[in-house]
Amino acid sequence: MASTGVSTESFAREKKSHYKGPRLKLAMIGCGGISETQLRAFESMPDVEIVAGADINPHRLEIMKDTYGISALYADYHQMLKEIKPDAVSVCTPNAVHAPATIASLKAGAHVITEKPMAMSPQECQSMIDAAVKARRQLAVGFQYRFHPATQMLRRARDEGQFGNVMFVKCQALRRRGIPNWGVFGQKQLQGGGPMIDIGVHVIEMAHYVMGSPEPVAATGKTWTYMGNKPNDVVSMWPDWDWKTYNVEDLAIGHIRFANGAVMQIEACFAGHIERDIWNFTLVGEKGGATWDPTAIFTDRAGTMTNTTPAFLPEGDFFTLFKLKLRNFVDGVLRDQPLEAPGEAGAAVQKIVDGVYRSSDAGKEVPIR
Ligand SMILES: NC(=O)c1ccc[n+]([C@@H]2O[C@H](COP(=O)([O-])OP(=O)(O)OC[C@H]3O[C@@H](n4cnc5c(N)ncnc54)[C@H](O)[C@@H]3O)[C@@H](O)[C@H]2O)c1
Repeated sequence: MASTGVSTESFAREKKSHYKGPRLKLAMIGCGGISETQLRAFESMPDVEIVAGADINPHRLEIMKDTYGISALYADYHQMLKEIKPDAVSVCTPNAVHAPATIASLKAGAHVITEKPMAMSPQECQSMIDAAVKARRQLAVGFQYRFHPATQMLRRARDEGQFGNVMFVKCQALRRRGIPNWGVFGQKQLQGGGPMIDIGVHVIEMAHYVMGSPEPVAATGKTWTYMGNKPNDVVSMWPDWDWKTYNVEDLAIGHIRFANGAVMQIEACFAGHIERDIWNFTLVGEKGGATWDPTAIFTDRAGTMTNTTPAFLPEGDFFTLFKLKLRNFVDGVLRDQPLEAPGEAGAAVQKIVDGVYRSSDAGKEVPIR
């Protein structure tokens, strides 16, 4: 396509200046890597104004000022909430700060979207939900894969009864060598765990949604740490992670039983000797089954075993999904549209993850309440 000489950013700014409708004054708490993805997504939304940023790292605040033109910057989010009084907050901190920052923001009268995982424990999730109810504010969790066209298609197939009773799902979030080499992803006290809570949550969340969100009742799990806590000189996507502070699992395997009799198997790893990375779930129902990638439905038709694949699905790349999840939050707050991934969805996933970790510690099946 011929260049118009107008950058996407300046086009977005131009659109913002002509917009006359309601506008959401939004502040960021945590201004690291993922906040930048969010800020680029918000750039194209004329109804969102970024009013402030808070981060304990002054270097990150400088980036917010220089790259994104945010001038109200704070080292302490409590002070930011008091002085700026934003309509909404996006929490993009390490997991241990999700609950305190969310609850403080709700108490200050702001609607909140918090990045995944929702928090460190089901108890924290419940406190966040209670705070939202008390403050009468919206609370969303940043699960963008719920917005993926394949996830939406499979959920519709489930609602149409194409799978019948769903008996089993297998969730896989597997990296051959993908230990994050930024942030604090290897520190249990700040993240709550490794690949199960960090990337497993995405696949669990989509599969649980497609299953129809059954109630988890028991978990069996096992975790192992064998690679992240040692030096590693193998050529890989993200080399040189901080192995000295690494105390989360490299591999986690979980088995969840649901009240309706269904079973979920979960495999999540940052580093494992497997052929290739896998990001997928497989579903088996009495009448039909499915895989997320490649997106396909397996059933019997006209006396034949058939495989159905979509002729067309819209874009489902990472950035498009980010825009969809943030758009849904903004529309939820400004236009009373239902939130696709409310706090309750985050809490359900957290119960599953927490069950796997508790079972691994206990060495036996544990109940989920
Ligand atoms: N939805 C997704 O696909 C996705 C992708 C990546 C990260 N995330 C989530 O986003 C969160 C942040 O991840 P990241 O990759 O941006 O990490 P990061 O380390 O790049 O950024 C986190 C930022 O939070 C700041 N911070 C720490 N404590 C703080 C506090 N008390 N107050 C204010 N700021 C504080 C840090 O200084 C840092 O700048 C994590 O919860 C992660 O799971 C989600």
